[in-house]
Amino acid sequence: MTILVTGGLGYIGSHTVVELLNNNFDVVIVDDLSNSEKFILKNIEEVAGKKPVFYPFDLKRKELLSQVFDAHQIDGCINFAAYKAVGESQEKPLDYYENNLFTLINILQEFKKRNISNFIFSSSCTVYGQADEQPIHESTPLKTPESSYGKTKQMGEEILKDFATAYQKKVTLLRYFNPIGSHPSALLGELPLGIPNNLVPYVTQTASKIREKLSIWGNDYPTEDGTAIRDYIYVVDLAKAHVKALQKLLNETSETVIDIYNLGTGKGSSVLEVVGAFERANHVEVPYQICARRAGDITIAFANADKAERELGWKAETTLEEALRTTWEWQKYLESRS
Ligand code: NAD
Ligand code: WQD
Repeated sequence: MTILVTGGLGYIGSHTVVELLNNNFDVVIVDDLSNSEKFILKNIEEVAGKKPVFYPFDLKRKELLSQVFDAHQIDGCINFAAYKAVGESQEKPLDYYENNLFTLINILQEFKKRNISNFIFSSSCTVYGQADEQPIHESTPLKTPESSYGKTKQMGEEILKDFATAYQKKVTLLRYFNPIGSHPSALLGELPLGIPNNLVPYVTQTASKIREKLSIWGNDYPTEDGTAIRDYIYVVDLAKAHVKALQKLLNETSETVIDIYNLGTGKGSSVLEVVGAFERANHVEVPYQICARRAGDITIAFANADKAERELGWKAETTLEEALRTTWEWQKYLESRS
């Protein structure tokens, strides 16, 4: 089986490519390197012992995309390619709608034209907004996301539901909670681009003294220690869920499938708990200061991931501390390269 992995040199994509190769799938990557670097391809090969095919171009270029489908018998796609910076999406909404939705539609047009099914989409817990219940189930009502980025994820889901229904296709929407950590080899991880917005990259850069202090955005939330709660899921566990979801989709006998899964640990951790776990795991200090809440932040979000366990046979296995240990190893690797 040959799987097209868009954004396969990115953070979650690169880990997933390794798992696909380990499970004997052939992989064709399209990535324009807008948020990655070429050495990730070499590292994927080193970790997996196999080489994926790689095409460096922007998926908005329909004619190049079509040539990939001419050159390979594609059996399915995992679509990671997207812009993902929440703050930036507020400043450049059109860039986000164009990149995240035009690329999706271009791939789906090829699927329709060539009668291919089996499509997996990277969605996000952001589609739930501040949910009225915790943990969040797949059936928990969606709310309009605060950011244009979040809206591209909700729109992407709707486009895929219509696509599956109208053309009898098989589609899986995976709603990730907060992915963290790096590959145990320390050869793959999240590439930092400028000042990190997400908690774990900021914590890591503070520990390595690139940043002076972590700002904790608010300690007046109605939680036990006053800091906000999220569900931090280890990236390798997350990558493995994609292989399970793909195998299920390939084995489906129904013509039309629209599956939705939450991918999280089922456990919420506060910002202070993450900082404490990082310090314990790596024996380093993370200086911090308490600041005002960050605009748009929600108090709490954690998953009920029972459906993924029941239907995919997948469950998060890695502890927060273990995941944070891999992050630190990756940071040391990045520093050794520069
Ligand atoms: P990432 O930025 O590391 O990976 C995305 C990859 O896609 C990058 O390598 C980038 O170069 C590529 N890309 C972007 N636009 C492209 C285009 N037009 N053509 C070709 N390649 C393009 O991001 P990630 O963290 O690995 O996220 C992967 C997916 O998961 C995204 O769709 C993201 O929205 C979603 N997601 C991420 C998180 C998270 O916190 N990391 C959480 C929920 C959902
Ligand atoms: C986590 C917690 C912050 C940085 C984002 C996207 C979401 C999804 C996952 C893609 C919050 C606090 C953070 C810092 C802090 N991505 N924090 N100091 O906001 O849950 O979700 O990533 O789909 O769409 O919005 O993740 O890592 O930014 O924040 O105190 O320097 O850490 O306030 O409570 P978030 P995050």
